[in-house]
Amino acid sequence: MKVKIERLDHQGRGIGKINNKTIFVYNALPSEEVDVEILKENKKIMEGKVTKYFVTSNKRVEPICPYFIKCGGCDLMHLAYPDELIYKENKIRQIIDKFTSLPLHIIKPIVGNNNKNYRNKITLHVDNKIGYYAKKSFDIIDIDTCYIALPVINDILKKLKKINLNNVYEVVIRVSNYNNDKMIILKTKDSINEKYFLENLKDVVDNIIIYQDKKYYVLFGKGFIEDKIGNYIYKISPDSFFQVNTLQAKNLYDKVLDYLKPNSNDKVLDLYCGTGTIGIYISNYVSSVKGIEINKFAIDDANYNKKINNIKNITFECLDASKIDKIKDDFNSVIVDPPRSGLDKKTINYLINSKAKKIVYVSCDPITLARDLEVLKDYYEVIEITPFDMFTYTYHVECVCLLLRKN
Ligand SMILES: C[S@@+](CC[C@H](N)C(=O)[O-])C[C@H]1O[C@@H](n2cnc3c(N)ncnc32)[C@H](O)[C@@H]1O
Repeated sequence: MKVKIERLDHQGRGIGKINNKTIFVYNALPSEEVDVEILKENKKIMEGKVTKYFVTSNKRVEPICPYFIKCGGCDLMHLAYPDELIYKENKIRQIIDKFTSLPLHIIKPIVGNNNKNYRNKITLHVDNKIGYYAKKSFDIIDIDTCYIALPVINDILKKLKKINLNNVYEVVIRVSNYNNDKMIILKTKDSINEKYFLENLKDVVDNIIIYQDKKYYVLFGKGFIEDKIGNYIYKISPDSFFQVNTLQAKNLYDKVLDYLKPNSNDKVLDLYCGTGTIGIYISNYVSSVKGIEINKFAIDDANYNKKINNIKNITFECLDASKIDKIKDDFNSVIVDPPRSGLDKKTINYLINSKAKKIVYVSCDPITLARDLEVLKDYYEVIEITPFDMFTYTYHVECVCLLLRKN
């Protein structure tokens, strides 16, 4: 069926209409005229894939990855990079416009990503073959290379393809951009032949970790990797969060610092601190930092990171952010970097009732960001939002926002 694509949706799919019913089409760009095969349909919408292009967009480029059409990992490899950035910036504008009453001039130009094979971590699924899930499916696309991963990850993948991954259902590869540290996590539901994996993998990675019965144990190596952002070294354990685009993370943290405009009297709360990355990054400029994080492994890493970076003015506590009112200290400034779900009501109430004059909100989901800003804006003026392209070729956009307490 012939469709003219009008625009892209927030997941990078082309939107068109068939008999007045909306269809979302993969690998289709605005202004393109395509023939589609319908993959799914319900009362309101359809989803389809292109079977033929009648008219193609002048913004279309050849994807750098041969698996792009099928693989669920990337969404925008068919769009020229400058246009991907325009799409991402507009996406933030549209979401802020739709879900908040904030003026759009506060949204600054997106910060582009200079490194296109940026991922320092990939998660592969295993079932006779090894690869990523197909788009909107649990079928595994067998891959030899992930074109957005750091090259060293693909060397490890090549080795994995040659060995027997019996009983392994998922493999995570994490590598360092800084010292060539490499970690492989083998996830299994049953026991696995440890000797076999040790013999076959110890020459390609420094760490082999087994994940079984919801626990990680070290089969080989020191059990963590180290990476560097700016002048700071960070220990990363198998289950700890670390930004997947290390080089762009530095630009993101520099923006946090720029918005924070720290001074030597500031007491800063780093909420959702992970391995202490942002708190440590800004610690030199302020009086003290308190990092709060729910993941015990990440807090252990944060305390280790405090030591190896010789930071004296930071403390960490393993706590659910929603229980932040248990912390009785007052803070002048708060940095929040929550997961995609954004801030919960108790955390928002804490921020509203706190003595903080400034909030720097780092967000990986613009919809929950918009929801939270719409509540916070009655108490804090939302001064600026800077979008960052941390995840090139995918539809995801990170944002850093500055909020200042209203008098
Ligand atoms: C997006 S990461 C940010 C980590 C860190 N700021 C960084 O840049 O590396 C979000 C972090 O929030 C933590 N987290 C998730 N839910 C939480 C909660 N309810 N309370 C505290 N921390 C939480 C996660 O474990 C993760 O480390």
